[in-house]
This record gives sequence, structure tokens and C-alpha cells, in this order.
Amino acid sequence: MKCFYFRDKSKSKHSSSGQPNSAPVLQNHGGGGGSPPEPRGGDRAVTGLNRNTRSMSSLPSPRRGVAELYREKRGLREFTYPELRDATCGFNRELKIGEGGFGSVYKGTLKVVGDGRDPTVVAIKRLNRHGLQGRKEWMTEVQFLSVVEHPNLVKLLGYCSTEDGRGPQLFLVYEYMPNRGLDDHLFNQALPALPWKTRLEIILGAAEGLAYLHEGMEIKVIYRDFKSANVLLDENFQAKLSDFGLAREGPVDNRSHVTTVVVGTYGYAAPEYVETGHLTIPSDVWTFGVVLYEILTGRRAVEMNRPSREQKLLDWVKDYPVKGKTFSMIIDPRLRGQYSYPAARRIGNLAERCLVKNAKDRPTMREVTVVLKQAILESQPEAMDSRSNGSGPATPTKERRVSRRTR
Ligand SMILES: Nc1ncnc2c1ncn2[C@@H]1O[C@H](COP(=O)(O)OP(=O)(O)OP(=O)(O)O)[C@@H](O)[C@H]1O
Ligand SMILES: [Mg+2]
Repeated sequence: MKCFYFRDKSKSKHSSSGQPNSAPVLQNHGGGGGSPPEPRGGDRAVTGLNRNTRSMSSLPSPRRGVAELYREKRGLREFTYPELRDATCGFNRELKIGEGGFGSVYKGTLKVVGDGRDPTVVAIKRLNRHGLQGRKEWMTEVQFLSVVEHPNLVKLLGYCSTEDGRGPQLFLVYEYMPNRGLDDHLFNQALPALPWKTRLEIILGAAEGLAYLHEGMEIKVIYRDFKSANVLLDENFQAKLSDFGLAREGPVDNRSHVTTVVVGTYGYAAPEYVETGHLTIPSDVWTFGVVLYEILTGRRAVEMNRPSREQKLLDWVKDYPVKGKTFSMIIDPRLRGQYSYPAARRIGNLAERCLVKNAKDRPTMREVTVVLKQAILESQPEAMDSRSNGSGPATPTKERRVSRRTR
């Protein structure tokens, strides 16, 4: 890739450590000190893992938390600012592939390993200047993504923390996902409709990723930001969960929840979490149920430009119960009837189970994967039903990020 940019004369300082390949350290309020990583800001952890409340004598559990696992692993590469600037031709607008609530994402090419191999195509997220909160989210993402390892989770290749005249600048460098997000394929009318079976395979991959986070590691991880925009797709349309800035360690010692400030994306968060701030593993399962309905209907969780009765997806689908005769009317019209009706009902039933009010009655993500595999079997070409419906096309509306009790 040819790069043209004006050289930045201002000297970019690199991370406080100055050491290549060293792990980033969250500092106190802009201070120099290099204190170890802290849990997420504003969260009142009841896990007993909060570094600030942890006392050697009062906590007998030898259990390691994400901060400990992260310190042991330290496998990430620390990039310099000039490396990232050159990789993106000076953060050239033409290489910008997206923008989210936390910053802009650029496509770039970088030498990820220093062995003379060809440069790798990467996605570089440049965080907005959000002060300490932004830094905590950046740190959370670095910690979780360096500890987790699963084919359905995006790989973080490295990070960069630097300063310019206006304060700290933070970057994350990921493997590049050429097929972008599931949301693009479900809601962007300019792209071809995503076939039924591909939808199921993608959502199965996402479910496997969540199941791993919930029960596949030494620590339990609550992802907290499950949504179609965070399910990225690789060259084979394999799902990879991204955006771990809101992830939290799950409860330990038989506790049911961790207590946190309410953050997430409008339309996706579990009601009990929004109301109480009690975050649980089943909170993620609720959110998964919302995305199951997005897959079925081709509509976003919230679309403010629809008639008021249809703006909230979960309210709208109530008029078309899974067991009723009108259920097929909610199925994405862009599928043009090319889906398996029994599988669609199975998915509808599964969504309902994920969305039950009592969090304890929701299935585990492992159970969810079993049902999704059955639905995929029912969706083999020979089993495909050819029902269609006559509802109008979906119109995309970008969802809004919320930071407090908004529903
Ligand atoms: N690793 C990646 N490879 C390719 N595209 C990516 C990658 N990471 C993010 N993107 C794309 O960049 C865009 C912005 O992503 P980002 O995660 O910042 O925001 P979002 O998930 O859309 O919303 P938000 O994070 O604000 O809730 C999205 O279109 C996403 O598909
Ligand atoms: Mg995202």
C-alpha cells in the first residue's frame, strides 16, 4: 500500500515503560506512577477481586483474576506511534473503515512480527479522548483480549499508548476482518441479503465465543456488549466477537452477580441489569436473545424511524408469537422465503427462552449452541421450507450507546 502523509514534527512519546513488547499499565489519574491495572472504573465489584479492596489476609481464595492472568501472559506487541501512523498513511481518511462510540477504526498494513515476513493487514482503533474512562476501557480490552484465546474471538495483535500536546492517545491493533460486522450484512440494504444458513452458522460461532467466555476459562467473563455490530466476520464469514472494553469478570464464590454502573447499548441490555446494575452471566444470554430476533427479522433492536409500535424489536415481535399462525410474518423479507420454517421456529423459541424475565431460567450459552446446531441441521437444503411473507423492508438506524438507565 502506498502511503502519503505529512510528517508530524511533534515528537511522539511512547508508553511510560519505553520498553518494546511490554504490557501496558494503567496509571492513576494521568499520573506517572505505573500502578498495576485496576478493574473497570465506576464499578462496585462484589467479586473480591478489586485490587483496591483486596486484602491478603481476608481473601483466602487463591483464584487468579484477569489482572493476574494478564501479567503472567504479556504476549502482546507494543507498537510505536510512528509505526501506526505509517501503517495508515497518517490515519488517512480513505483508510478509515468505521467509527464507533469509542473511536475510529482504520485499515492498515504492519509488520506484526519482526522476522522480515510480509506486512499483515490490520485494523487499528484510535480511541477518542475520553479521559480516564476511555483509558480504563482500553486497558480492559487489552487485558481480556490478551488472556482469552478462541477461534470465535477477535485477536488483538497489540496496542499503543502515546502522548501528544493534547494528552494521551490510545490505540488497539486487531487482526483485520474483511467481512466487517454482522450488522452490515443484516441491515445494510446495499449488501446482498445474508442467506439463512449463513446467519445460523454465524450466530452459532458467536454463541461458541460467548460460551467460552462464560465457562471455558479459569475466569468467567461477562461480555456485556453483545450486539450484531460486535460480531465481526473473517474471510470465511466465521464470527469473531470484538470490543471487550465493557467486559467484566463474572461473580465468584457462589455469588450471583457483580454490581456495576449500567453501560451497554440501548435495546440490548437485560432489564434486570438496567434496573439494578446487577450484572450476571445470564445478562449476556438475554442480549443474545435480542440478536437472535435480529437474525430472524433483519431488523435492528431499536429503529426509531419506524412507527412507534415497531420501534423496539422485542415489543413488535410480541404481536407474532412463535406458537401462533402469524409467526412467519416477522421473518426477514430479504430471505424471500429461503429458510427452514421449523428451524426458524426453533430459533424463535430459543430467543424466547433467552429473554425470560427470571435470569436463572435462561439457558446457558452451551445449551444455546446445542439448539443452534439442531437448527442448522434442519436448514440443510433438502429441509428448506419455501414460505414467504409480505412485510416491508427493514430500514437501518444506528443504535445508541447508553450509560445509564435508559430503556
Ligand atoms: N478488526 C476489525 N476488522 C475490520 N473491521 C473492523 C474491525 N474492528 C472494527 N471494525 C469495523 O469498524 C467499525 C467501528 O467499530 P467499533 O467497534 O469502533 O464500533 P461499533 O461496534 O460499530 O459501535 P460501538 O463500539 O460504538 O458500540 C465497525 O463497522 C466495525 O465493523
Ligand atoms: Mg464494535
